[in-house]
Amino acid sequence: MNLQSFSVKQDILFGIGAVAKLPEKMKELKGKKALLVSDPGLIEAGTTGKIEKILKDAGIDYAVFSHIEPDPGCWIVHECRDRIMEENCDILVALGGGSAMDTAKSASIIGYTGKRIHDYWGYYKPVDNETIPVIAIPTTAGTGSEVTRNTVITDEEHYKMVILNDKMLPEVALLDPEMIMTCPVSVAAASGLDAMIHAVECYLSDLATPFSDAVAEKAMELIGPALPRFVANRKDVQAASDMLMGSTLAGITLSLCLPTQAHALSHPLTGYYGISHGMANAMLFPTTMEFNALADRGKYKKIYNLLRTGHPYTEDFETEMLIDYLKELNRKLGLPKNLSEMGVDESHMEEMLKDAQRTKIWEHCPRTTSVKEMEMLYKKALYRE
Ligand SMILES: [Fe+2]
Repeated sequence: MNLQSFSVKQDILFGIGAVAKLPEKMKELKGKKALLVSDPGLIEAGTTGKIEKILKDAGIDYAVFSHIEPDPGCWIVHECRDRIMEENCDILVALGGGSAMDTAKSASIIGYTGKRIHDYWGYYKPVDNETIPVIAIPTTAGTGSEVTRNTVITDEEHYKMVILNDKMLPEVALLDPEMIMTCPVSVAAASGLDAMIHAVECYLSDLATPFSDAVAEKAMELIGPALPRFVANRKDVQAASDMLMGSTLAGITLSLCLPTQAHALSHPLTGYYGISHGMANAMLFPTTMEFNALADRGKYKKIYNLLRTGHPYTEDFETEMLIDYLKELNRKLGLPKNLSEMGVDESHMEEMLKDAQRTKIWEHCPRTTSVKEMEMLYKKALYRE
């Protein structure tokens, strides 16, 4: 048996008002000047202003970098790096969803050296220089980036590159449910589905251990009932709290295991068709779960019951019940029934298959997947009824 390990290296604070602890956490990290990394939507919604006020009231020097785009390209990371250098910042406050947090985390390893992020593409490339500490404040319940060692950055050729590096782990995660209550409905649905898929895929990964299973099970138990309620009403405090806690727990499983086929196949859909990460995963997920069912060792029944927490426990379980549940969830949250309805066609199939294979994910899926089967999965998700 391989050695199994469990560690959560961040200082994680959870609860309404958690963001008020920002100055204290900055002092602990000996930060003198912060770069607040945020996005234009959050500035408009007044969320960035709330954090600026906390910094101003505490007399902390800061600058703002807000040129964040969804699914950030390497050029955005380099702009952020340049801003860090111009402003002489020594701490990063990453306020936002996965895009802002991934940009800040990526910039944190090159902000002192001026190197390109391309030097760190891939898995655990050594970082010999000092890095800039990151305090993450998620404004969506989704990627779990506040607790993961990975980022996803698009390169010049539309390829969504996954960078895995311990040096990118945020030092602190401030989880404040109020911060996610202004997120738009489409973001709540897509990012919430992404979080649910993290928990389920990591639970099924062959890297799963009792440590990661315990965390994934709690994430599913929280996200299952809360997701529809949170999409329906972002001001539902209990739903927002459960989604934020659930998505962070799902992020922890992501740091312990790799996700499976939906994540490997979804990145090219974002790269070539601009479909949001969560949406692309959710559109593939019923299909990949159907495919993996052949390898099920009893976890599908547990997943079904955990996602349906609050309903009577189902002893009499058939795989179709879980697949139907996932399809119905997509429908309820307003997603189309197949990828072709989202404008995807087969014109980039060859490139997408090539890109999808460039990940370690395939080594740890519950069911071994050939390239022919990857193509079959894409086609099934393209046209499924
Ligand atoms: Fe994801």
